[in-house]
Amino acid sequence: MTITFIGHGYVGLVTAAVFADLGNTVNVVGHTPEKIENLKKGIIPIFEPGLSELVKKNIDAGRLMFTLSFDKVIPEADVVFIAVGTPSTTTGDADLSTVLDVAEKIGKNLKGYTVVATKSTVPAGTNKKVQRILAESKPKGAEVSYASVPEFLREGSAISDTVNPDRIVIGASDSRAQKLLIKLHEPIKAPVVLTNFETAELIKYAANSFLALKISYANAIAKLSELLGADALKVLEGIGMDKRIGSLFLSPGPGYGGSCFPKDVKALITIAKDNDYAFSLLEEVENINSQMRRDVVKKARKALGELRGKKIGILGLAFKPNTDDMRDAPAIDIITLLVNDGAQICAFDPQAMGNAKTVLPKIEYARDMYSVADGADLLIVLTDWNDFKEIDLGEIKKRMKTLSIIDTRNIYEPSEIVKAGFSYIGVGR
Ligand code: UGA
Repeated sequence: MTITFIGHGYVGLVTAAVFADLGNTVNVVGHTPEKIENLKKGIIPIFEPGLSELVKKNIDAGRLMFTLSFDKVIPEADVVFIAVGTPSTTTGDADLSTVLDVAEKIGKNLKGYTVVATKSTVPAGTNKKVQRILAESKPKGAEVSYASVPEFLREGSAISDTVNPDRIVIGASDSRAQKLLIKLHEPIKAPVVLTNFETAELIKYAANSFLALKISYANAIAKLSELLGADALKVLEGIGMDKRIGSLFLSPGPGYGGSCFPKDVKALITIAKDNDYAFSLLEEVENINSQMRRDVVKKARKALGELRGKKIGILGLAFKPNTDDMRDAPAIDIITLLVNDGAQICAFDPQAMGNAKTVLPKIEYARDMYSVADGADLLIVLTDWNDFKEIDLGEIKKRMKTLSIIDTRNIYEPSEIVKAGFSYIGVGR
């Protein structure tokens, strides 16, 4: 099939590359000339394991193309995917301006029969608006069906999540669109949920909010474990063995971050409020999440007393490992609070330092993970990169002023750290 993607963020670029790899002809439309020129050469704007290779392979095979113009690649497309960003507005709603704007540009260029499908996360009701815009802007004679096909990939494992998803959700306007989208997804082996727009849109928000809720629950259990002297990791392992609960997304830490959970939880609270339902359960999910960030600073005070003038080394800045993404990373709030308390920060991240420098311009950045320990009074692990798990404690010991570690991702075995001569504070243990 011939497919066009509007947007080349995580969702757009990864799904475009995977569909090209499955043998389709795929065009990707962007709006920044420099980024499109780079993409044509296989230079991608994000760090995602395996993506650069997959993009290059499919460019070379002539199946993946990049362009700035809608008019060349909309008329020939069987399916057009909208995969542009929907950031939070100041009121917590999703900002739909780009989605609605590209809908009009797509509409004007439609020719023959086309399915337009939204992959962007949009609140229930948006797809009806997009459908209306397409119907109003399309030329006479063009036929369009509409669908919501939400995406569930995670950063850091985006390609394998797309190739092996838990399910494919298709909320189509009619059976013709449904059939075409089922055919397009046929090589991907996963159960398919066929439904209407509203349901498909809500599945996406309900899934992300439930995962965020699971994390906040694990964090609340971790807090309680600290107060009771219990081991949260054992408690969570114990409950996760119950198939009805499941063991995934139960790792306590500095709170969830990234471009999805914080934004989508906020948006679902707002969607509920707009429909006269107070989703206070999710408000508490948010409260626990921000409390976890403040808690790291409390632990730093507990370890060091006064923070003013103390040197703190930070291992990890990205909101999770295997990405360079700093959007809503817990590191931003935590480092800002530490700096406000007068601490001197030196940080290292294997991939995210470039992006971090724009949001945290005033801190020092180290050239490798060992240098953050030079003269440090405290080391705080904020992202669970594999490199940090295998760190040479002997080398760290030689460089630090005071041997103290806060491990917000529980990547170390406390007894080993203590045996090596450090004081250790984890989360929930
Ligand atoms: C999330 C969802 O997992 C995807 O299914 C969804 O498609 C995506 O949002 C989206 O809406 O686009 P992502 O934000 O890339 O994916 O990353 P996750 O692996 O879900 O992690 C989110 C945050 O939760 C990270 O800060 C991570 O460290 C934290 N987390 C995750 C925990 O604190 N504990 C856990 O047990 C799991």
